[in-house]
Amino acid sequence: MTLIDVKPGKDAEFLALATRFEALLIRKEYGRAETIRDEAEPLRFYAVRHWRDIAAAERCHGDPEVQALTTQLYQLARVTHVVNGVRRTDTTKLLTGDRRARVEADRRTGFDRRQRNVGRSGGDQRVGPERRLGPRRLRDLGADVSIDLVGAARRARENAEARFSHFQVGAALEAADGTVITGCNIENATYGLTICAERVAMFKALSDGHRAFTRIAIVADTESPTPPCGACRQILWEFGGNLEVHLANMKTSKGIHQLKDLLPLPFDARLL
Ligand code: THU
Repeated sequence: MTLIDVKPGKDAEFLALATRFEALLIRKEYGRAETIRDEAEPLRFYAVRHWRDIAAAERCHGDPEVQALTTQLYQLARVTHVVNGVRRTDTTKLLTGDRRARVEADRRTGFDRRQRNVGRSGGDQRVGPERRLGPRRLRDLGADVSIDLVGAARRARENAEARFSHFQVGAALEAADGTVITGCNIENATYGLTICAERVAMFKALSDGHRAFTRIAIVADTESPTPPCGACRQILWEFGGNLEVHLANMKTSKGIHQLKDLLPLPFDARLL
């Protein structure tokens, strides 16, 4: 899915372009596309693409006709890739490494429950030390279903190669499919070739084929937060869009920001 913020006065042009794009996807049998207007923000749209299969998606991305439309789109709107169109098939994968990964499926749901008593003789109301704590279904966990991104960044920081500055930084980048890619800063004897934790994480992710991202956590052992440097903001913006940026130290969170606020008036491919 893509978030599209159309420039003022360009919505008619944008809608015409979206219609051409939708028709093209059908004509070339790549899949189909929908463009949905945000109810609250008139210039905001969501473009949802349903690919026929992965090969069709790749053919579509390489299609010069599609690329020409995309170039026109970038002139009319700001485009943020929110979620890649791959369906998450295994929600439990999200929880790998998390203590909740050990939570068993709830036996009390589904038809089983109605047909036979899978609970206990006294019903399912467990009391005392056996009392069930916490949410009963994965979806009831709500916003709490999260990978410990800050924890991953803290662990990545342990690998920092920071013998010159002694300033170790860890980063953990979450891809749209739930994969976490970590990075740490890497310094070398020439100093100038140093690369920050955030860019290491992003370049690792890109080279592994990830193209859509949701959040990044950045950790350093400092009292005040360690926000990404200018170079990292640029790279994160170009490849990750408006990421949620979680800053933390070794003990506690130091704030959550949106990348668009950390990099106002960005330069990117839309301006080329
Ligand atoms: N550094 C990062 O890795 N990320 C940041 O957000 C700030 C700075 C690294 C670069 C260098 O190795 C050390 O921290 C001191 O600047």
